[in-house]
Amino acid sequence: MRLEAPAKLNLRLLVGPRRADGYHPLTTLMVALDGLADAVTVAPAEARRVSCPGIEGIEGPDNLAWRALDALEAEARRPLPCAVTIDKRIPAQAGLGGGSSDAAAALVGADRLHGLGLGPERLERVAARVGSDVPFFVRGGAQWAEGRGELLRPASVGPFAAVLARGDAGLSTGAVYAAFDRLPPPPPAVVAASCNRLSYGEVVAGSRNDLWGAALALAPGLGATARALAAAGADAVLLCGSGSCLAGLFPTRPDAETAAASLGLHGFCAVVEGPAAPA
Ligand code: C5P
Repeated sequence: MRLEAPAKLNLRLLVGPRRADGYHPLTTLMVALDGLADAVTVAPAEARRVSCPGIEGIEGPDNLAWRALDALEAEARRPLPCAVTIDKRIPAQAGLGGGSSDAAAALVGADRLHGLGLGPERLERVAARVGSDVPFFVRGGAQWAEGRGELLRPASVGPFAAVLARGDAGLSTGAVYAAFDRLPPPPPAVVAASCNRLSYGEVVAGSRNDLWGAALALAPGLGATARALAAAGADAVLLCGSGSCLAGLFPTRPDAETAAASLGLHGFCAVVEGPAAPA
């Protein structure tokens, strides 16, 4: 069984002060992307295997997909052996949700392979135990997310394209949130965060990522990449999640492709479109 595990973009990411459990309350608009995805295969096996051919350090128990299978076995109360193979295309530590998307694909794939029939609600509950972004990837499409990212509400977002430009170094989510805590709190949001249908213009007008200052403090080189994206005509430039990738927003793919060609960015990543339809 082969599943596409798409990357995501946070078109708006508002972050509140750290909670007692260490997490930060979010209001975020997340969209699955078309054009950048890992390929995840889930196959019958005698014992569990999680492999990422060609990539070291994220195989076996170190992979979030392994922890997803632990959580699924706990829910099903039985062993669910399978071989998960992840063909990685989404860069790691980029804020594009690659690891979380792979974990969601492993959950969905193992649920189908073993005929559990847990259904979307239970799968999302299991996903929330694995990581803040994993429930979003079980659902896909475009969603408002609140809580630490696990409380989802469907949104409708007009089509857009984005140039994704990679930062020089990856950023750890935990480190970026810790840097956020050391900075003054962001100003209150001016644009209402509850609109369910957003045109491209509304997405641009409301684009914001409260982790930008923290990511920039940890990786100052991001400033030059952001300026290059703006100079290439992006209507908005956004940090992806907790970074280190940056996204420049454009109304259409040809606009984004022209801009990407003019940029010649070091470590350029991809031109994508959104939102992708749920699988
Ligand atoms: O949930 P996940 O394991 O993806 O989160 C990784 C880290 O990011 C957490 O340990 C926490 O430090 C930080 N985080 C946060 N607030 C969130 C989501 C993540 O502080 N809403």
